[in-house]
Amino acid sequence: TRRITVNDIAAASERGEKWPMLTAYDAMTASVFDEAGIPVMLVGDSMGNCHLGYETTVPVTMDEMAMLSAAVVRGTSRALIVADLPFGAYQESPVQALRNATRLIKDSGVGAVKLEGGERSHEQIRLLVEAGIPVMGHIGLTPQSVNTMGYRVQGRGEEAAQQLLRDAKAVQDAGAFAVVLELVPAELAAEVTRTLHIPTIGIGAGPDTDAQVLVWTDMAGLTGGKVPRFTKQYANLRQVLTDAAKEFAGEVVGGTFPQAEHTFH
Ligand code: KIV
Ligand code: NA
Repeated sequence: TRRITVNDIAAASERGEKWPMLTAYDAMTASVFDEAGIPVMLVGDSMGNCHLGYETTVPVTMDEMAMLSAAVVRGTSRALIVADLPFGAYQESPVQALRNATRLIKDSGVGAVKLEGGERSHEQIRLLVEAGIPVMGHIGLTPQSVNTMGYRVQGRGEEAAQQLLRDAKAVQDAGAFAVVLELVPAELAAEVTRTLHIPTIGIGAGPDTDAQVLVWTDMAGLTGGKVPRFTKQYANLRQVLTDAAKEFAGEVVGGTFPQAEHTFH
């Protein structure tokens, strides 16, 4: 079976089909999601929080993105793999964006890249698309701007809503194949979805977007502490792993592991 392409994604959305996207940061987890039939995986810079122990996505480097993106590609055979351009890897100029996106496409082997920003990033998006690199946009809450934006719902009020619509159109006009809408009111996300012909991917954007994305560690219940209200926990991996680790520790301390079947003579 061949890999899913951006054209398959466009076709699915034209047929009115909703589709799921999950983040992935390593080959093993990605292989599970590939087998589960998740069509699109995002090597998100949320790896900064979930995988690398940073407090925000801001410190994530191109080296980190390139390494984990390559791992996710190696762990999958079917999903379209999208990699984030991290903070500082595209803001300087379209040429900088092209250089870094090329590395993720050519060396890591991903099928598309994602970058944050609407009007402010449209030149970058345009150059990548002209060069043959599929681009996913990302507007609304853009976590790389946490230092100016904070983490709050975007697009509330008439002026902010108009700006979000302009950002959405800028991303589409620049040639992006899809756009993430993060933490925006459901009514506005629905309006953007009606307005655009490219698929919208919601996270904290209500039920009316073409697709939904969640951070895998949040949706699987692995994340410690508080998770955002828009996420849903479909499993409790943190509890499962805690129990397994404690049971292993207890058996080692108690001398009941290993047993005969684990032992060579
Ligand atoms: O990095 C990430 O996980 C993302 C999604 C939340 C869209 O950008
Ligand atoms: Na991201």
